[in-house]
Amino acid sequence: MCGIVGYVGYRQACPVIIKGLHRLEYRGYDSAGVALIGRDGQIELYKCKGKVEDLEHFLEGKDTESTIGIGHTRWATHGAPNDANAHPHFSQSGRIALIHNGIIENFRVLKDALKSHGYTFRSSTDSEVLVNLIEYIQDTNECTLEEAVRMALRQVVGAYAIAIVKRGDPDRIIAARQSSPMAIGIGEGEYFLSSDAASIIDYTQKFVYLNDGEVAVIEKGKPLQIKTLEGEASQVNIQKLEMSISQLEKGGFPHFMLKEIHEQPDTLVDCIRGRVSPDSREIILSGVLDNKERFLKAGRIIFVACGTSWHASLIGEHLIENLCRIPVEVEYASEFRYRNPIIRPDDVVIAVSQSGETADTLAAVEIARREGAFVYGICNVIGSSIARATDSGTYIHVGPEIGVASTKAFTGQVTVMAMLALVVGKLRGTLAEEEYHQMADALLRLPDTIRKVLECAPAVEKLSGIFTYAHNFIYLGRGYNYPTALEGALKLKEISYIHAEGLPAAEMKHGPIALIDAEMPTVVIATLDHTYEKTVSNIEEIKARGGKIIAVISEGDTQLRKRADFCIEVPSTAECLMPVVSIIPLQLLAYYIAVNKGRNVDQPRNLAKSVTVE
Ligand code: AGP
Ligand code: GLU
Repeated sequence: MCGIVGYVGYRQACPVIIKGLHRLEYRGYDSAGVALIGRDGQIELYKCKGKVEDLEHFLEGKDTESTIGIGHTRWATHGAPNDANAHPHFSQSGRIALIHNGIIENFRVLKDALKSHGYTFRSSTDSEVLVNLIEYIQDTNECTLEEAVRMALRQVVGAYAIAIVKRGDPDRIIAARQSSPMAIGIGEGEYFLSSDAASIIDYTQKFVYLNDGEVAVIEKGKPLQIKTLEGEASQVNIQKLEMSISQLEKGGFPHFMLKEIHEQPDTLVDCIRGRVSPDSREIILSGVLDNKERFLKAGRIIFVACGTSWHASLIGEHLIENLCRIPVEVEYASEFRYRNPIIRPDDVVIAVSQSGETADTLAAVEIARREGAFVYGICNVIGSSIARATDSGTYIHVGPEIGVASTKAFTGQVTVMAMLALVVGKLRGTLAEEEYHQMADALLRLPDTIRKVLECAPAVEKLSGIFTYAHNFIYLGRGYNYPTALEGALKLKEISYIHAEGLPAAEMKHGPIALIDAEMPTVVIATLDHTYEKTVSNIEEIKARGGKIIAVISEGDTQLRKRADFCIEVPSTAECLMPVVSIIPLQLLAYYIAVNKGRNVDQPRNLAKSVTVE
């Protein structure tokens, strides 16, 4: 979710907003826009697809004279990144303009109701629904705009940070928040607004951070007024910000990768939100339910992906074979596309990609579609090429991933695959009702479980010091934990440049065990599952040859605590969700070793975030 910047005061608003939006660029975005109120009281709206720089070009030669404005960088969640969907959005009459970060979950119901009252829509966004809802409420209740905003937000389910300006009102911005950040900067006779205080730190160090469910009326020359959605006055708490800009852009973390690792409890909330009902424990994935027949009749599922997304797909294979009893194949997209693969009309091909732009995966999608398969996408970037090229799909909704090493996308992908397997398993009747509900519960608890796992960070940091100078690593796991071992090894090699190999634990004795000596650390994921005892035996075999074991174990496992050289304890969840838990210490281990080695963690050598070439 991207950024908001606003200004009301005596300066020219447009340059303040553009500078602020540039500061928010680190969040990743796909379009930008600004609304200004001109001398005649009219709202001027300028917006376009692309970067803030593109918006700047677009603004050249335009009349941007104004001392009030709101600006936005969008990271699309509803509707493709294009000019029409870029923010700000006008209400139907053009009286109000709104910018929004977040997701309005019940936008469809609200939109249908507004349509029945004669409203039409210029964009596909959930945000335009909100601005029209506010206008409709104001018109039908003949109330103030502030009151209409509060009433509308009481009807909204979801996450938002919004800012609104009104035609003929050049001194006032209305802002509100729920689960998306919003800071109000206080100047002398002027106010600033931003989703990240750092973007406006040049102008003021005094900030008021809106709390969830608060609406602020920000009026030039007047004291700041904050009320709850029910209209009760809130305390205006001014805080001084003494942080460097670069620190804040990374949310106080030294690297995006570490920030993204720690964001995972929240990104999983976003991934699950609106899909797993806490009341009925039903799982709704519209991409699957709208194409029920294709999944019911599927003779085979083929995953196509690269890198981390390929590892997540290996977990998808276990999930679907276990819960849906459909045969699954997992293909490297680069191999699939050149192998003249056999694709049948009853195949469902699932393309998995964080960026949605990976050239090999996109080519695999095109081949599968040409051959008549039903193609489903699991992507993060909305409106990306793969998301557009597939017949249907599910977004993982984990927000922009900036660090080259994929972390929160992996956990989001596995979570979506678990939801997909549960929905399809239920449809096909291959899954007992009880198991379905237990898994739904485990999914709902998953963000908290991950919050708990992250408590191991200081211990992992300490452990990293012991292994920084190892030249090689082996990562082992069985069952669901084997792909986790592959992913842990990939994390280490791509950011620390240490050679690391991931293997199924039982394969050791078929060759790789020859590598074991005191210089070869082995990371084993040995949590309590149905392969646990077997994994313990594999650990013994390595120990017997003088190898050093770092074991990821379940909380309270005293057996391995005694046998392994170093242990990292993780809480338990449903066995098929364990990769989401077990990968966290491995992401952290790779991160801290890379930092100890002084590597460029966020942009490792020779790598790019989006591999858009073959
Ligand atoms: C993982 O950390 C990578 N940087 C890389 O393997 C990545 O997962 C791969 O390039 C696929 O990218 P995608 O998910 O955007 O398609
Ligand atoms: N849901 C809104 C949209 O798709 C806002 C996305 C954002 O936070 O940038 O336009």
